[in-house]
Amino acid sequence: MGNHSGELRAFINRCGQMNAPLDLGTFKSGVLKCLQHSAVSEARSGEVRGKPVLSMPGKDELPPEFLEAMARKAPIFARTERRPLTPLPVESISGNVRVFV
Ligand code: FES
Repeated sequence: MGNHSGELRAFINRCGQMNAPLDLGTFKSGVLKCLQHSAVSEARSGEVRGKPVLSMPGKDELPPEFLEAMARKAPIFARTERRPLTPLPVESISGNVRVFV
């Protein structure tokens, strides 16, 4: 759940890319960013705004076997469907916020 310019938004806590928990990501300037592969979604609508990425800092220091395994998964990753986030109804009354699950 987040507050973007005074509008409360709530989504099911799962990324539309590969189902990672969104609460581990970031919510900044109206954009949700998934920690798993950095896909970004619009907080207002839940629509996907940016594709996930496979890059990672420090990758050159990882064992070659690991990098080869990641490279084999790249074609699967590239073809994985990215769905919009699933919004949940939210209401705010007298400072109390309710999310309808
Ligand atoms: S699971 Fe969220 S970007 Fe891949």
